[in-house]
Amino acid sequence: MTQQPSYIEKDILIKTQEYIKKTFLQEGTGHDYYHIDRVVINAKKILETEEADEFLVELAAWLHDVGDYKLHDGVDKSEELITQFLKSLAIDSSVINRIIEIVSQVSFSKGKIPLSIEAEIVQDADRLDAIGAIGIARCFAYGGSKNRILYSPDPVEKENTTVQHFYDKLFKLKDLMNTETAKKIAQDRHSFMEEYIAQFYNEVQL
Ligand code: NI
Repeated sequence: MTQQPSYIEKDILIKTQEYIKKTFLQEGTGHDYYHIDRVVINAKKILETEEADEFLVELAAWLHDVGDYKLHDGVDKSEELITQFLKSLAIDSSVINRIIEIVSQVSFSKGKIPLSIEAEIVQDADRLDAIGAIGIARCFAYGGSKNRILYSPDPVEKENTTVQHFYDKLFKLKDLMNTETAKKIAQDRHSFMEEYIAQFYNEVQL
């Protein structure tokens, strides 16, 4: 059985959702409020088959992109901003530390290994939103925000294209899922991306 959030914890989750909505609604790089909302939905789905602290998972899922270096000109401000926000809700420092620990283990680029089931779930939930139809849309949105070209037949130029990102990251994610539920969902989304890229090359190499 998963540990359910208490009444006070539910109130914290609602206040966190409001804070995230306010902060991320206008974000244009594919890390907008609805991305975070989907990560929470994915995390809840995974929680149905995993034994974990539901409150910690949900709170970390809401906060996982706060202060991310991609959104702060390359500077990681997650610890600072998450602490600031959770302190404003008078949350215990032991909980704040757990949340910071989970969030620090989620990111693909930081290359850290999740050390708790809670971190494994949030990482899977975030990665599921990076693949499939949504993942494709987010990948091109992010590439656009960085002024990257879609693709290039030139072998040198191709390294910095959005299509290259499928090979550098997105196609690898299905084998990096931690939980069984995420592995199953990832399979389907992975196949869809393969079909998409095959069709993409069919169209550009007429
Ligand atoms: Ni994310």
